[in-house]
Amino acid sequence: MKTILITGGAGFIGSNFVRFWYDRHPDYKIVVLDILTYAGRLRNIPERIYNDKKRFAFFLGSVTSIEIVNMLAENADVIVHFAAETHVTRSIFESRKFFETDVLGTHTIANAVLKFQDKVERFIHISTSEVYGTAHSDPMDEEHPLNPSSPYASAKCGADRLVHSYFLTYGIPSVILRPFNQYGPFQHLEKVIPRFITSAMRNEPLTIHGDGSAVRDWLHVEDTCERIEAAILAPLERVRGQVLNIGSGECVSILDIARMILRETGRAEDAVVHLGDRLGQVVKHVSSTDKARRLLGVGPGRPFAEGLRQTIDWYARNEAWWQEIEWMKHVTVLTRAGKEEAH
Ligand SMILES: NC(=O)c1ccc[n+]([C@@H]2O[C@H](COP(=O)([O-])OP(=O)(O)OC[C@H]3O[C@@H](n4cnc5c(N)ncnc54)[C@H](O)[C@@H]3O)[C@@H](O)[C@H]2O)c1
Repeated sequence: MKTILITGGAGFIGSNFVRFWYDRHPDYKIVVLDILTYAGRLRNIPERIYNDKKRFAFFLGSVTSIEIVNMLAENADVIVHFAAETHVTRSIFESRKFFETDVLGTHTIANAVLKFQDKVERFIHISTSEVYGTAHSDPMDEEHPLNPSSPYASAKCGADRLVHSYFLTYGIPSVILRPFNQYGPFQHLEKVIPRFITSAMRNEPLTIHGDGSAVRDWLHVEDTCERIEAAILAPLERVRGQVLNIGSGECVSILDIARMILRETGRAEDAVVHLGDRLGQVVKHVSSTDKARRLLGVGPGRPFAEGLRQTIDWYARNEAWWQEIEWMKHVTVLTRAGKEEAH
């Protein structure tokens, strides 16, 4: 049996990937390393998986800990590295933790991949489209300049380039994936789509930074899992050292998403409330999907309207999951004008 080490497997994308991989790859044991920050929850991993001691093990620990990372990497055939601090707004408030986890954590993982190069066949580093900053081209391909515009994005950019430098210097078997905006089941309420959905369900206003015209490229998390799987299963010589966008090519504005959610949940459109602009805001993001199609053989994923309906349905059926974290839906930030606002 092979072993796949998944860091950050109790978070949103990580836990979706744990379920995805467990159900499709019975020849693998899954090992999760997660420190369970406010964003990570054990209940994101189904009991049927958690209790399967033959095929699943959970380790509470940090990706910045050389000792535990080496101990787990030593036995891993594949490593998928999700663990990170991920909330842009929090990074504007206090960013030190982002650099510790996102950069030094990745450094620790990359060193372990290097140390156990004879064992680790593939290292999938989960980067982000935020490394690009606002789009200079439409669509954005992997050659787009890197202009991170928030502390979160710059920490992720440091991690992304660190992994690439380890490929260039030492030839580690890395593949860097840059997902665009994600949505789907088990996403924390601090992120825009679950916040909108649960606010609509509670008859609360849907708060938007600025005028809501910022457009993003949205991909359902299960489609992302398929792409990560494809990067693991593709012939190594085809993907080694590559950087790949993981997006849909379909971009939708924040305001349009709010309107779609209000329509689907039977609320009136005047439930939208505009707040001050978020600092470090990216105005436009749209992914080129050409390289992923060429190297991984994947298409654009499900249409956004379909994925959004599925996601609304999941939050409607899983109130017990989200009501516990409802109090974390908003964080208070200081605007440019020195005003306190709940974002
Ligand atoms: N959600 C998105 O839209 C999106 C888009 C592009 C890229 N990404 C990237 O995908 C990855 C996963 O994102 P997500 O949305 O699932 O994040 P998330 O915040 O939901 O989960 C992060 C997980 O990492 C864990 N973690 C944090 N610090 C850790 C540490 N020091 N050691 C071990 N575990 C730690 C947390 O406990 C949590 O379980 C991140 O690297 C993120 O940058 C996310």
